[in-house]
Amino acid sequence: MTTTSTRHGAASDAAGTGGLRLLDVSLTLGDGEAAVTALDHVALDVTPGEFVAVVGPSGSGKSSLLAVAGGLQRPTSGQVHLAGTELTALSDKERTAARRRHIGFVFQQSNLLASLTVREQLLLPLHIDGRLDAAARARAEELLEAVGLSHRRGHRPHQLSGGERQRAGLARALMTSPAVLLVDEPTSALDRVRSAEAVRLIAEQTHAHGTATVMVTHDTAIMDAADRVHEMVDGRLS
Ligand SMILES: Nc1ncnc2c1ncn2[C@@H]1O[C@H](COP(=O)(O)OP(=O)(O)O)[C@@H](O)[C@H]1O
Ligand SMILES: [Mg+2]
Repeated sequence: MTTTSTRHGAASDAAGTGGLRLLDVSLTLGDGEAAVTALDHVALDVTPGEFVAVVGPSGSGKSSLLAVAGGLQRPTSGQVHLAGTELTALSDKERTAARRRHIGFVFQQSNLLASLTVREQLLLPLHIDGRLDAAARARAEELLEAVGLSHRRGHRPHQLSGGERQRAGLARALMTSPAVLLVDEPTSALDRVRSAEAVRLIAEQTHAHGTATVMVTHDTAIMDAADRVHEMVDGRLS
């Protein structure tokens, strides 16, 4: 695993050269009496190679932030720029393509496919893109080692603990070295030692591959690994 910090700290423009930029983004969910302002005029810039943590209590809008940043959900207003493209200006189809090309998601629930082994989960996205070569297989082994799952590479999700599934989801997202990495509560099923390891791996990969990373969490113990920490309260970002 390389720890070279190539682009970390380099001055660059998030919207111009990659990275992630949210401009005055708001999101209202539900309607009428039940309407909730999940995101309230949020602005956020993450440059390539930067690891940003967003800390906030349950219900503060953290998952909504990632859904909008990653193009899974269209904001009610505002703009999202991703790797130089205005995501909010694209059609649904174009947005899906941009998401597949540029974004790695680590979901709160690991979203593994029941029928695939851990190793196959990692290789699948590259297989679909026709990019499954020796380098990809080597990277899979490297990442399995890094998340402590080498000995579970042939297991299927139902044969894994919650923490192992969470670590498999993290390794899968890192496989393609995405331009933007969005991570939702990556340590909720992990103990203190595993949490620290997982967050260290995210930081290392972010700096080594020039990834723009946003990790949301309510666990303040893991935010030290981030380059910058924002606080989220009632849909507003500090
Ligand atoms: N589909 C939905 N319809 C209405 N309100 C929702 C929906 N999803 C989430 N919410 C509300 O939006 C707010 C933010 O939720 P969420 O982004 O999941 O917060 P967090 O990830 O910080 O726990 C919460 O008040 C939540 O109840
Ligand atoms: Mg959440």
